[in-house]
Amino acid sequence: MSERHLSFTLNGERREANADPRMHLADFLRHGLGLTGTHVGCEHGVCGACTVIVDGAPVRSCLMLAVQVDGCTVETVEGLAKGGELSPLQQAFANHHGLQCGFCTPGMLMTLEAFLRVTPSPTEQDVRIAISGNTCRCTGYQGIVEAALTTTAAKGSRP
Ligand code: FES
Ligand code: FES
Repeated sequence: MSERHLSFTLNGERREANADPRMHLADFLRHGLGLTGTHVGCEHGVCGACTVIVDGAPVRSCLMLAVQVDGCTVETVEGLAKGGELSPLQQAFANHHGLQCGFCTPGMLMTLEAFLRVTPSPTEQDVRIAISGNTCRCTGYQGIVEAALTTTAAKGSRP
């Protein structure tokens, strides 16, 4: 099957690329564009490790085709740090021991990044519900929840 030409915005920059119509977004990001920060765990929408933000909403990139982002705005974990400086949410993860092996971390960060933009003052329960679709096998979630609660929407989100 012939490749499709895609035009989209990736982490604030216009990008043009070709993708096989059957390639999912996670593979396109990792293998097509070299953005290996997006992790792939279950590959069927359960673990959340592959979460990226498309047009402001968190999506499972293992369940989305690359061709679906044509004309869209895509944000990956690589876009969070600016000028070599961690985003407030990333820094909060570091401060609160919100990661151990780090495999779930890109998906957790992108899920919470999108969540905090629309939920400026979440309760602990709000945060736990927000990350309920993201599996972490290391931390017990407490540090992740504390990191999110100390990061306001204003600090945690950037255009
Ligand atoms: Fe996409 Fe697990 S790899 S949800
Ligand atoms: Fe290891 Fe979450 S830090 S899976």
